[in-house]
Amino acid sequence: MGMHEDLVRLSEVAAGFSYSPYSRFKVGAAGLFENPAGNQKIFTGCNIENAAYGPTNCGERTAVFSAVAEGYLRLIKMCVFTPTETASSPCGVCRQVMNEFGPDAEVVCTCNNPDAIILTTVAKLLPNAFGPKNLGK
Ligand code: THU
Repeated sequence: MGMHEDLVRLSEVAAGFSYSPYSRFKVGAAGLFENPAGNQKIFTGCNIENAAYGPTNCGERTAVFSAVAEGYLRLIKMCVFTPTETASSPCGVCRQVMNEFGPDAEVVCTCNNPDAIILTTVAKLLPNAFGPKNLGK
């Protein structure tokens, strides 16, 4: 089983942990990250909704924040899974967050229909992004 297949499978597992009683829309994410020492590790996430709606966190951001919280600051590849017939690409806020840690990262969105896969990159999803480079970082 290769890295790509691992990420896709783990994103589907993560969707099973989705806390989404309000939308009933399950999202799972699995990202490959690297830390400054050069170690690579997969972090997963799911969408986590809230009765106040606004505090809801998307699956992609849950994965990124888990990685950053362990010092894995560089996003290499993000896989997103929804148990639907069409694939969902990341929302605007998640695009901005992914750009912060992986402007060149690959993004793969899968769903129950294997023909509906979306293969793209953060840079394509967020052209002319405002990011760390604008602040000299
Ligand atoms: N959602 C994600 O987790 N990722 C996205 O990129 C789009 C939307 C979640 C948020 C909310 O829990 C549900 O999907 C419906 O919008």
